[in-house]
Amino acid sequence: MAVAAVTLDRVSFAYPDGQEALREISLEVAAGETLGLLGPNGAGKSTLLLQVNGLLRGTGTVRVGGLPLNDRTLDQVRAQVGFLFQNPDDQLFMPTVWEDVAFGPRNAGLPASGVRERVERALEVVQMREAAGRPPHHLSLGQKKRVALATVLATDCAVLVLDEPTSGLDPRGRRELAEYLTSLEQTKLVATHDLEFAVELCDRVAVLEAGRIAAVGDPRVVLADAELMERTGLEVPHSLRYHAAGVPHQHLAAEPHGRHPSTSRAGNRLPGE
Ligand SMILES: Nc1ncnc2c1ncn2[C@@H]1O[C@H](COP(=O)(O)OP(=O)(O)OP(=O)(O)O)[C@@H](O)[C@H]1O
Ligand SMILES: [Mg+2]
Repeated sequence: MAVAAVTLDRVSFAYPDGQEALREISLEVAAGETLGLLGPNGAGKSTLLLQVNGLLRGTGTVRVGGLPLNDRTLDQVRAQVGFLFQNPDDQLFMPTVWEDVAFGPRNAGLPASGVRERVERALEVVQMREAAGRPPHHLSLGQKKRVALATVLATDCAVLVLDEPTSGLDPRGRRELAEYLTSLEQTKLVATHDLEFAVELCDRVAVLEAGRIAAVGDPRVVLADAELMERTGLEVPHSLRYHAAGVPHQHLAAEPHGRHPSTSRAGNRLPGE
């Protein structure tokens, strides 16, 4: 059997002030899979992602490409993981956009021509080539997020761990990013509040609730579960209300007057369920 790209085995974590953030999380991301991590504010999404590159370490085991993360393997693991921080200010620290995006490829030992190629491609993808010479701290929030994404894409890592990649992006930027990420073959672990983005991009989603996994599965099934969405502070995405679970448009007229299909359990059922 192929080695899973990322495995968490009973990972628990509490912050130094005693705040418990992850409780016995077990999760596997297959090579090439895109797994979405959903859940309300404070559920533990960022804390979980930070375990994958060892920036936070709790109890239990984290494996990347089969390699258990520990003091000895930390650098090796980090070299496989491209990490997008939720806050772009945590990501950008060089004097110019270009230098920030070049940092990863340079660190990986690429020659100058290879670095240039990677930087140009990554800035092109996020449409920030014109800002290459600007100081990152002068950019708007959405522009910073784009550049932060470019720093990750330029590394060409086997595993991409992205914390809220669409936050701050304008609608077209969000759509183009979804399309671009879908075209990438890398394994992706993506925390997002953008549920439509999750439906478009993810092979599976996991819903976190107070540091525990409440559900894992096909986004079109998990996100169509109105009860689960209500309980976890999420919402059935628009696209799944009207196309949910094989309920064709024309059947909506048959719904009792004033009743929205998303409030009907039957409306959220999959064929054969
Ligand atoms: N540095 C910290 N010190 C103490 N507690 C923290 C710290 N960072 C986060 N927490 C707590 O850990 C829990 C999980 O936080 P986390 O940032 O992982 O949530 P999240 O799901 O990413 O939320 P959001 O959707 O707002 O990004 C929350 O209760 C939060 O208050
Ligand atoms: Mg977060």
